[in-house]
Amino acid sequence: MNVMGANRTRIMVVDDNLTNLKFVKSVLSEKYDVFTVPSAAKMFSLLDTDAPSLILLDINMPEMDGIEALKKLKEGEKTRDIPVIFITARNDPESEVTGLDLGAVDYISKPFEPPILRKRVEIHLTMELQRKTMEHQKRELQNFNDNLQRMVEEKTGSVLELQRAILNTLAEVVESRDEITGGHVQRTNKWLRIMLEGLQDFGLYSEEISDWDVNLMLQSSQLHDVGKISISDSILKKPGKLTSEEFEEMKRHSVFGAKIIDKIGENMSNNDFLTHSRIFALTHHEKWDGSGYPYNLRGEEIPLQGRIMAIADVYDALISDRPYKKAFSHEQASQIIMEGRGTHFDPVLVDVFEQVENKFRENGVPRENVIEKST
Ligand SMILES: [Fe+2]
Ligand SMILES: [Fe+2]
Repeated sequence: MNVMGANRTRIMVVDDNLTNLKFVKSVLSEKYDVFTVPSAAKMFSLLDTDAPSLILLDINMPEMDGIEALKKLKEGEKTRDIPVIFITARNDPESEVTGLDLGAVDYISKPFEPPILRKRVEIHLTMELQRKTMEHQKRELQNFNDNLQRMVEEKTGSVLELQRAILNTLAEVVESRDEITGGHVQRTNKWLRIMLEGLQDFGLYSEEISDWDVNLMLQSSQLHDVGKISISDSILKKPGKLTSEEFEEMKRHSVFGAKIIDKIGENMSNNDFLTHSRIFALTHHEKWDGSGYPYNLRGEEIPLQGRIMAIADVYDALISDRPYKKAFSHEQASQIIMEGRGTHFDPVLVDVFEQVENKFRENGVPRENVIEKST
């Protein structure tokens, strides 16, 4: 607490009785700067420019009494936190309770002993200082938390950005070897999103997909063909149908993809992204009737990710030029997907495909790039 010179703590005493004002001032002025004010109106005119650390307020005053003055103090944004002690000759418990209810910090009845007044003023000033310190600390802590949160968000954002960049590059590296399927990864992503939104709209497989973070999952699908990195150029770029040996070799890309993803995961803790990636890579060539590869899984033995990807992947292969065939039209591709209902593809998913196939058409390749298949 300041005890000397201009920086001493300021106390305002408000009382219509000049003798009382003088007395209180004499008791407190040794330690504080005491301003005596003869009315509540005068107090308010001074408060605008000169807020004290504490107000001693008389109750019985003409015009505005202490109770009214306290109410008004509590309404003012700048004045509501100034501690107020009532000093009054009135000695009835009712006005004491009213005063305390309205927010006075204490109530001193006249006559009082000077040391008691000094002590109570000192206690309330100390409490006020503690309150202000705590408020300050609370604000500091809040600022600190806000900053920390911002920093964490920035860091997380840049880690995610890095992850996206590395992933896109890896997917592009795989695609650049297999240049004939350029854009396949980005397009299958689009087809997957349409299928997933369809599932959500129709409330199908909702138990499985409710746990999925759709954006994370779509990103993770980009690695589904990462295993093609192990397939030789002569097979990958062969202009024509593969021999059965070559096809066996080509089939290895799903198991090899899963191995690459396992390798990435070796130095990481469990991660949803890699879990999805691995399932996509390993199971996107399985078929509903058990005739797919690598494990001849059938029906719901095939994880849902793989079943959805099978449709997205095949649809995209159909509407794209491949060394052994020209691109099919959307209508032809849709027809083939629907014919695969219950054999190649999950029948529930084919039904969803049928409902959303117009979205595939709208997002597909421009008509001029499509060469109709001769039937
Ligand atoms: Fe594949
Ligand atoms: Fe693929």
